[in-house]
Amino acid sequence: MARKSTTTVGKDTSRADKAGQRQGARILVDGLSHKFVDQQTGEVVQALEQVDLTIESGEFLTVVGPSGCGKTTLLNAIAGLVHPTGGEVSSDGAVVRGPGRDRGVVFQELAILPWRTVRRNIAHGLEIQKIPRKEREERVGYYVDLMGLSGFENAYPHQLSGGMKQRVAVARTWAADPNVILMDEPFAAVDAQTRITLQEELLRISTVSNNTIMFITHNVDEAVFLGDRVVVMTRRPGRIKALLDCPIPRSERTVDTMARPEFAAFTERVLQLVREEV
Ligand SMILES: Nc1ncnc2c1ncn2[C@@H]1O[C@H](COP(=O)(O)OP(=O)(O)OP(=O)(O)O)[C@@H](O)[C@H]1O
Ligand SMILES: [Mg+2]
Repeated sequence: MARKSTTTVGKDTSRADKAGQRQGARILVDGLSHKFVDQQTGEVVQALEQVDLTIESGEFLTVVGPSGCGKTTLLNAIAGLVHPTGGEVSSDGAVVRGPGRDRGVVFQELAILPWRTVRRNIAHGLEIQKIPRKEREERVGYYVDLMGLSGFENAYPHQLSGGMKQRVAVARTWAADPNVILMDEPFAAVDAQTRITLQEELLRISTVSNNTIMFITHNVDEAVFLGDRVVVMTRRPGRIKALLDCPIPRSERTVDTMARPEFAAFTERVLQLVREEV
């Protein structure tokens, strides 16, 4: 697996300070099941079945599994956007009953505000939190720069490419600095080279901050590069097939460590587990 580095991973921590003072939260998913019932046909789809999972405070958990296995449903249950038909989710001991500012989401389908410019989209959560203007502008500037959106601060979403919109959506969630960040295939629409840059930046920022992160992806290389642990889900109804520790600590991970045989073997093992379900 050849990765070409575009940034220096793990060196510059000063910039990440501007990302905010993050704090994690421990997420407990307990016996989670979910059935969707089609309003018209009455057809029942069992999306999740008995999912037990703990995401430790400050952990970066990546999730892979076949299309339609319930990954987004799991994420939405943690976000409080889906009310599970069985089991429950709690965040630092408090049962999740709805969405909260402590849990930020980067949706699989784009969720940015078409009537706001790039700058004001990224600032949105900060405005809601009434963060003073100076700090707000600093943080927004940091994310504009980080996401390679310089020069487009005043553009509206319809003037951006799909990948750029995706980066605005990521920046918007990160800038609001939630304890828990739930990301649903955030880099799917980004070109290959930018994707690698964003992965490296995400690795770097997340190793110097403490949020709890759940990151869904179809890309196994991405899952093993970013995660402390990788969850492999079964085909629908989604259950946890395997929960694996990535071999090299995230803080020590660089483009070079990815080339080590134990990492390559680990990637192959995850790939194999996913293939069995497709
Ligand atoms: N609102 C809904 N109403 C009915 N069925 C739904 C609804 N949302 C999801 N489903 C069904 O639940 C199952 C799981 O969907 P989900 O979106 O969680 O899968 P996923 O693993 O995220 O898939 P993908 O990788 O394609 O994004 C699918 O069979 C889907 O059709
Ligand atoms: Mg999905």
